[in-house]
Amino acid sequence: MNLDQKLNHLPLTKSRPNTLESLFRKTDIIPMWVADMEFQIAMPIQDALIRRISNSGFGYEYKPDSFFLAQKKWYQQNYQVDVIKEHIIYSPTITTTISILIEKFTSESDGIIIQPPVFMEFRDVIRNTNRRIIKNPLKLTKKQYQIDFNDLELKAKSENNKILIICNPHNPVGRVWTKEELKQVIRICKENDLLLISDEIHKDIILFDNQFTSVLQFINDYEKIVVCTSEAKTFNLCGIADSMAIIPNEDIRKTISTTFKKYNLGRTNALTRVALESAYNKGQSWLKEVVNTVEKNIKSIESELESSKIELIKPEGTYQVWLDFRKVYKDTKEMFNHLTENSGIGLNAGHWFGREGALFMRMNIATSNEKVTYAIKKITKAVPNKSFKQ
Ligand SMILES: Cc1ncc(COP(=O)(O)O)c(C=O)c1O
Repeated sequence: MNLDQKLNHLPLTKSRPNTLESLFRKTDIIPMWVADMEFQIAMPIQDALIRRISNSGFGYEYKPDSFFLAQKKWYQQNYQVDVIKEHIIYSPTITTTISILIEKFTSESDGIIIQPPVFMEFRDVIRNTNRRIIKNPLKLTKKQYQIDFNDLELKAKSENNKILIICNPHNPVGRVWTKEELKQVIRICKENDLLLISDEIHKDIILFDNQFTSVLQFINDYEKIVVCTSEAKTFNLCGIADSMAIIPNEDIRKTISTTFKKYNLGRTNALTRVALESAYNKGQSWLKEVVNTVEKNIKSIESELESSKIELIKPEGTYQVWLDFRKVYKDTKEMFNHLTENSGIGLNAGHWFGREGALFMRMNIATSNEKVTYAIKKITKAVPNKSFKQ
């Protein structure tokens, strides 16, 4: 299948005129912001969904053993992780799970550590649960982001800080944390009794020769771990798929499942079940094509930016690129307005991910190479000729 085939309609959130107007103050914009794909879903998934719909009845569903076995195989083959059925809690969204974890394991005014610039809903969920956002900002050295471990040690030592949320691969900067880095994270959590939430939703898009490591591989060293993940992003199913939490520790799992039962959050959707089971069983070659296309898109961006003052923070994972505009703009609002107006491309402003992202932009490249090349040319042409020292 040719992934460069375009969808007949873009996803609605991405392209809805009202949304574009409120974000970009115009509607004639090419939307390359929210993180979903413009590729048609894998044929086996489409076939399975069509078969399920033609079967017409939509009574109550459950996830049968065949679903779980397909999922178990996926995790074994791709991540050397043995997922145990009883450790999984299915959840409507990752943010639902994080919100409940925060409410159950911390008190109001406790601190939750995050690593900005990072997926903005971490910040929102901490605010919405009346906890304190404690920042352990990532450090940018030599065009790549690193965890500031000295700062993390300090923040972890404070008795009021109870949870660390990491994002692996990291949205928006694209780092795939190495085994060594994760070992340090685990050590710090263990020494300071922090609950570690690892959001691994982007785990399946690993680029070039990078290697993804799930924190589940360290479960024998430390048990206070919850992995939140989903295959929604991987298979372009954000509009229908749910998420899951993998919780090896029995006490944490019981606490969470009691709350899930209380709010009846575990109901299965027939289409989700069918789509994901066929994705796990037959989606691997489609996914490989996605990864190849994303890598090709990154190379096109790299070569287009060679003679530009815009710098690419080359991603190791995810289908987004993080672009550094610090040499061309001084003010983040001016950057966003000027670039949007003059390029006609709708990107996420970096400061949406925290003020640490100011003067950066995130671009979604899960689309055709033709579109990515067109967009990056429009962006390079739009920036002013002046130059600032960093
Ligand atoms: C790191 C990360 N976590 C979670 C989500 C969203 O997951 P959910 O819709 O299940 O809350 C996203 C979406 O962009 C994301 O990037």
